[in-house]
Amino acid sequence: MRNLIIDSNRLWQSLMTMSKIGATEKGGVRRLTLTDLDRQSRDLFAEWASACGCTMHVDAMGNMFVHRAGTNEALPPVITGSHLDSQPTGGKFDGAYGVLAGLEVLRTLNENKIETEAALEVVMWTNEEGCRFAPACMGSATFCGAFALEYSHGRSDQEGKTVLEELKRIGYLGEGCGDRPVGAYFEAHIEQGPILEAEGKTIGVVTGAQSQRWYEITLTGMEAHAGPTPMERRKDALISAAKLVQEVNQIGLDFQPGGCATVGVLDVFPASRNVIPGRAFLTVDLRHPSDAKLAKMDEILRNTAESIAKDAALTLDLDQIWACDATNFEKSCINAVRKGAKAAGFSHRDIISGAGHDAMYVARIAPAAMIFVPCEGGISHNEIENATQDDLAAGCQVLLNAMLEKAGTH
Ligand code: GLV
Ligand code: MN
Ligand code: MN
Repeated sequence: MRNLIIDSNRLWQSLMTMSKIGATEKGGVRRLTLTDLDRQSRDLFAEWASACGCTMHVDAMGNMFVHRAGTNEALPPVITGSHLDSQPTGGKFDGAYGVLAGLEVLRTLNENKIETEAALEVVMWTNEEGCRFAPACMGSATFCGAFALEYSHGRSDQEGKTVLEELKRIGYLGEGCGDRPVGAYFEAHIEQGPILEAEGKTIGVVTGAQSQRWYEITLTGMEAHAGPTPMERRKDALISAAKLVQEVNQIGLDFQPGGCATVGVLDVFPASRNVIPGRAFLTVDLRHPSDAKLAKMDEILRNTAESIAKDAALTLDLDQIWACDATNFEKSCINAVRKGAKAAGFSHRDIISGAGHDAMYVARIAPAAMIFVPCEGGISHNEIENATQDDLAAGCQVLLNAMLEKAGTH
């Protein structure tokens, strides 16, 4: 492997420039998918890609593929990427790092006039976060055939706007989806957990990702006056929702090591201080590295929700809106990451991803693996999310090494 070194400052500057789009006061970003801010981040990415001399394809999910030709265009491209959308109170690095690290790989190769045998591509996947439009990883799941295009296009936000309408509105509705070859896929990301930092390791060689399921639950009772309605006559949906929130947390605690259980959204209707809540809506996120254990957590959730609703004479609507089984990344890609870390002299360890990533879906159709770098305090999905320039550069260097190994150089 040639001694090519990525430009740490250039990568950092790109990250800082991108983070101005949707910047929040606390130092993070709010760049919800398919909003005007998302469009601005896409426009900037497209501008930088074009300055690299690359062509770009936008598909019917708004996924953006930046193509750097190889000497043998008959070979399937080696692809890297991630996402530019963020959580409502997101950080500067979740997603953007993987996209801009990919761009830095292309810039480094251009600067050194290196040609690869297989083409290289950098992809920006639409709606990885799944917070404005659920479920998560929508662009990659659709590309990989796990979601039908019509299903993804029809998903709507809280105001009833659909993915299709918003793709059109921001000018990123392209053509086709899933009809591009993928030779191998790598995704660089901050770890979003505490392990690498705690162990003083620079690179996480990601061997897999945990199983996850999302649910939407509605408990319906009856609105009534907060004054004259005696306590024993109430059908208060919030009281039962509160019990369920506790039980969801308990499921996570009972499935250690590895289990995670979260209620992230709780909406109460009609949300008036002197009306007993007639309806409560909540979301549940369950995760475990083992599919079998997650299935058990699922069963407990369903039984618990049913018995809580029954005890209070409420009606229950439990909808599992997403399931993504545990991922095992592909051996030769994992090895390319490990080898890339060794060649660059970085400390490393194998790791399972706790977070969801587009790579989980790409792994279903092509050889794939991921590269993690530490983040401060393991904190992510928070505006204070932070990572060091050196660690980010290290991950990018490993990405370059791994992509070159898979694409071949001349
Ligand atoms: C994506 O960020 C997830 O892990 O939920
Ligand atoms: Mn992410
Ligand atoms: Mn995220």
